[in-house]
Amino acid sequence: MNEHQSRSAIVTGASGGIGRAVALRLAADGLAVLAHYSGNRERAEKTVRQIRAAGGRASSWAGDVADESAMDALFGAAEEAFGGVDVVVHTAGIMPLAPLAELDLDVFDQVQRTNVRGTAVVAQQAARRVRPGGAVVLFSTSITRLQSPGYAAYAMSKGAVEALTLILARELRGRDVTVNTVAPGPTDTPLFREGKPAELIDTIAGLNPMGRLGTPEDIADVVAALAGPARWINGQVLYANGSAA
Ligand SMILES: NC(=O)c1ccc[n+]([C@@H]2O[C@H](COP(=O)([O-])OP(=O)(O)OC[C@H]3O[C@@H](n4cnc5c(N)ncnc54)[C@H](OP(=O)(O)O)[C@@H]3O)[C@@H](O)[C@H]2O)c1
Repeated sequence: MNEHQSRSAIVTGASGGIGRAVALRLAADGLAVLAHYSGNRERAEKTVRQIRAAGGRASSWAGDVADESAMDALFGAAEEAFGGVDVVVHTAGIMPLAPLAELDLDVFDQVQRTNVRGTAVVAQQAARRVRPGGAVVLFSTSITRLQSPGYAAYAMSKGAVEALTLILARELRGRDVTVNTVAPGPTDTPLFREGKPAELIDTIAGLNPMGRLGTPEDIADVVAALAGPARWINGQVLYANGSAA
């Protein structure tokens, strides 16, 4: 098989906890991977080195997900390197927390820019460019159901991602491209741990019937199914959290 015949994936936020696990999993499943990052080049490069060491194909590419020129370039880089794009997994996002009464509205704007506009920009590129047989996987959070205090700005932004999911799946009628959103529960990554004392993390882990936090690999398993064999799941939000919430 030559370098343009296998399937390829763009993973945004591949320098982050979940994105890195997704990139490694898709590469292990045989996809060529473009590992996207924003500021953390070394972490993305480490993922690329790990994939290549295991015999896979991967490159890294930087850019702000809310910047349409940067994302146009990201997709162009994947097409140039791999001959086309089959799977887009959009994990990049931010989660500043504050009660609404104390929320800095500049922070609110930043959350909406990265999480809402960023998803619109990446999903728009995906809608234009993903090849037949492909899959688009967006990211929300189980917080949109749990509705915990402090998460207003973040949950509002992810509610928008959920709203987009079925609409885009329907807009892609006839293209043979699925669109789904994965909504993890607490997953052990830097985004989850930031600002939380160890006791709070233990309490959150204990609330789950499985008695633990999710791992990035738990989430990558779900993405791998959506990216590959699970063609009959389309337009759905999947709450991947180890419990019923
Ligand atoms: N971890 C959880 O408990 C949890 C639960 C529910 C949902 N989620 C969702 O899962 C996704 C991944 O979360 P995670 O825990 O893996 O997060 P993470 O470890 O903090 O990684 C976040 C990623 O997003 C990238 N990023 C942030 N702002 C960006 C921007 N403006 N442009 C481009 N890239 C940007 C970061 O890039 P750099 O580091 O290179 O700057 C990083 O790769 C997010 O959408 C999050 O909301 C996570």
